[in-house]
Amino acid sequence: LTPREPIPTYETLPLRIETARLVLRPWELGDVDAIWSTVSDPTFPIHMTWAAHTDRAQTVAFVELHQRLLAEQKSIGWAITRDGVVVGCISLDGIRWTMNAARVDQANLGFWTARDHWRQGYMTEAVEAVLGFAFGPLGLHKVYVAHVEGNEGSRRVIEKVGFRPVGRLEEEHYRDGRWWSGMRYELTAGEHLDSSRTMRINTRRQP
Ligand SMILES: CC(C)(COP(=O)(O)OP(=O)(O)OC[C@H]1O[C@@H](n2cnc3c(N)ncnc32)[C@H](O)[C@@H]1OP(=O)(O)O)[C@@H](O)C(=O)NCCC(=O)NCCS
Repeated sequence: LTPREPIPTYETLPLRIETARLVLRPWELGDVDAIWSTVSDPTFPIHMTWAAHTDRAQTVAFVELHQRLLAEQKSIGWAITRDGVVVGCISLDGIRWTMNAARVDQANLGFWTARDHWRQGYMTEAVEAVLGFAFGPLGLHKVYVAHVEGNEGSRRVIEKVGFRPVGRLEEEHYRDGRWWSGMRYELTAGEHLDSSRTMRINTRRQP
């Protein structure tokens, strides 16, 4: 698999992604009220690096940041919706195509599901869709992801969709009075293609 040419302009890509149950679409300022109860819950982001919002202006800034990063070709963030209701957030962050004279074509995957909607398979479904987009229309070569130790939900999602473990991240960030270690994983375009083929074969073979 050779690097994609030319490097795409993200707004020209099919950013609205439909799955069996979900619609993923870029963030809108109208989403602020819908996500406020999630992003302002002090217990919600403990396994991530951001602080719970204490003012709606921070949530507006969150949506505006996603919109700016998309316009600047730096990351793509989606609201995950079900029947028009926002149930979560997923993003390809730090999209990088070049490093000096080399092509790298990679991005970091980040996500959360609003607590009321946990354990309904939504994040697994959304991650599979975003990986299809990342290795399809976007044309990345690698997606990586990490979770902190103890985040069993995230670990399960990451393992279910086929990421390959890279190794342990020792004391990766400091928050709430302690250093957090974690696990890092990655998936290449070729590995994704192989796993999609295997899944299709397995699906066909099911009685
Ligand atoms: C991690 C998170 C995104 C999972 O979202 P979700 O929509 O509930 O995930 P799914 O329903 O697709 O679950 C996928 C699998 O994980 C399992 N799972 C989900 N939450 C779990 C938990 N807290 N503990 C153990 N397993 C969990 C599900 O049972 C399912 O496994 P199964 O198919 O074998 O039954 C959600 O819990 C969350 O947003 N947490 C807070 C934010 C966060 O940690 N984000 C990730 C940062 S790396």
